[in-house]
Amino acid sequence: MPATNSRTQEDWDALRADITEAFSPGAPVQEKDLFSGRTSQIRALMDAVSQRGRHAIVFGERGVGKTSLANILKLVMHRPNRELMYVRVNADPNDTFTTLWKKVFKRLTYETQNITGQQISKKISDDFPGDISPDDVQLVLSEFTENHNPIIVLDEFDRLKDQATIHLVADSIKSLSDYSVNTTVVIVGVAEDISSLIRGHESVTRALIQIRMPRMSPEEIKQLVLTRYSRCGVVTDADAVWKIAFLSRGLPYYAHLLAMNAARYSIENKKTTVNHGDVDKALDSSIVELDQSIKEKYVLAVRTQKSDGVLYPSVLLACAFASTDELGRFQQTAVTSPLNKILPEKNYQPSTFALHMNSFCEDDRGRVLQRFGTARNYRYRFSDPMMQPFVILKGLNEGRITDQVADIFSTKPQLTLDLEFSTEPLPR
Ligand SMILES: Nc1ncnc2c1ncn2[C@@H]1O[C@H](COP(=O)(O)OP(=O)(O)OP(=O)(O)O)[C@@H](O)[C@H]1O
Ligand SMILES: [Mg+2]
Repeated sequence: MPATNSRTQEDWDALRADITEAFSPGAPVQEKDLFSGRTSQIRALMDAVSQRGRHAIVFGERGVGKTSLANILKLVMHRPNRELMYVRVNADPNDTFTTLWKKVFKRLTYETQNITGQQISKKISDDFPGDISPDDVQLVLSEFTENHNPIIVLDEFDRLKDQATIHLVADSIKSLSDYSVNTTVVIVGVAEDISSLIRGHESVTRALIQIRMPRMSPEEIKQLVLTRYSRCGVVTDADAVWKIAFLSRGLPYYAHLLAMNAARYSIENKKTTVNHGDVDKALDSSIVELDQSIKEKYVLAVRTQKSDGVLYPSVLLACAFASTDELGRFQQTAVTSPLNKILPEKNYQPSTFALHMNSFCEDDRGRVLQRFGTARNYRYRFSDPMMQPFVILKGLNEGRITDQVADIFSTKPQLTLDLEFSTEPLPR
C-alpha cells in the first residue's frame, strides 16, 4: 500500500475491503492466526484428544466463541504420523440419535474396493440405511486404525429436544470411553453448567473434560482487534481499543462489529489510525448491522407508558452496568448506583424501580431479564447475553449517558498496544 497521502480512491476501497474481510462478526473463526487467547481452553481440548477414553464438553453463554474454539482445534492439533479426521455437525431440535449420527457418518469416509477391484471412497452413512444404535457408533469408530484419529464435534447440543437422544449420546460416549476407542467426541452447547447439557447422565461426566468458556478478557479482545488491524496496515491507540473492549462486554461478536466499523469510518475519512472518536462514530453503523431481533426485543422491553416517563430505558441501561457474578447475575441493589448516575439528583432507591425490574421478567416486556432465587435474594440476568452490550450502545448513541458516566475512561486498565501479548501463544 502506498503512504496515506498518496493513496488513490481505489487504494482506500481496497483497504476497506481488507478490513471487512478481516473481521467476521457473523461467523466462527476459521484461521489460527485470527483466533485470540483461550490458551487454557485449547490446551484442555488438546488433552482430551491426546488421552484415549477422554472426551470433552464445551459450554458457555451464547456467542462467547465455543464453535470457534472447536474449529481451531483441528488447526493447532498436530500428532506425528496420525491423521486427525475432524467432523463438526450441528444438532437441531428435530434430531434423533440416528439422524445426528447420520450427519456424522456422511462426513466420514473410508477407502475400499468396488466389485471390479477399483479403489473407491465410501461414506460410512451408506452402510446404514436404517437406524443407528450406540453399539453401531462404537463399532464403526473402533475400526479406524491407530493412525486415524476421528474428532467428532456435536455442536449446538442444547438445541436437542429429544431426551432419549441425549441419553443415547451419553451412553455412546461412555462406551467409547470404556472400550478406549481412538476417537474424541466433543459436545458443544449453550449452558451454564454441564448438567444442563447432559441432564441426568452424570455417569458419563468422568469421561468428559469439562471446558467452560467465559467471556473474553479485555486483553483477549485487544488481541482480537490488533491482530486484524495490523494485518490490514491500520493502527490504533489504547483509548480506542479499551473502548471497544469495554463496550463489547467480553462478547467477541461486538468486538468484531465495533472494531470493523470504527476502521471503516476512519478509512472513509482517509486515515489509517483509528481513535476513540472513530469508535463513537461506529455506534450508529454497528447498531444498524445488528440482528433485527435484538432491536425488536429492546423496543418491546423499554417501551414507555406516559406515567413512567424515561424510567424503563434507564433502568435497563443501569442493569447493563450492574456488577455481576461470574454467571452474569446481579442483585437489584447493584442497579441503584448506575441508575443514580444515569439520572442524577433523583436519589432512586431499589423500591422505586422494583416494579420495573419485575416487569422486565414478564412476557409483556419480552422477558428481557430472568430472575433467580427467592424474594429476599433475587438475582437477575439478561436472558440473552447479546442484549447487554446492545443496551449500552443504545444508551451512548441516544445520549442517555456519556463516556464518563459509563465509567469507560475511569475504569480503563493499562492496556499496552504491543503485539507481544501477555497471554501465552497458542500451543503448537
Ligand atoms: N478467540 C476468538 N478470537 C477472535 N474472534 C473470536 C474468537 N472466538 C469467537 N470469535 C468471534 O466471535 C463470534 C462468535 O463466535 P462463535 O460463533 O464461535 O461463538 P459461539 O459461542 O459458538 O456462539 P453460539 O452460542 O451462537 O453458537 C464470531 O464472530 C467469531 O468470529
Ligand atoms: Mg456456536
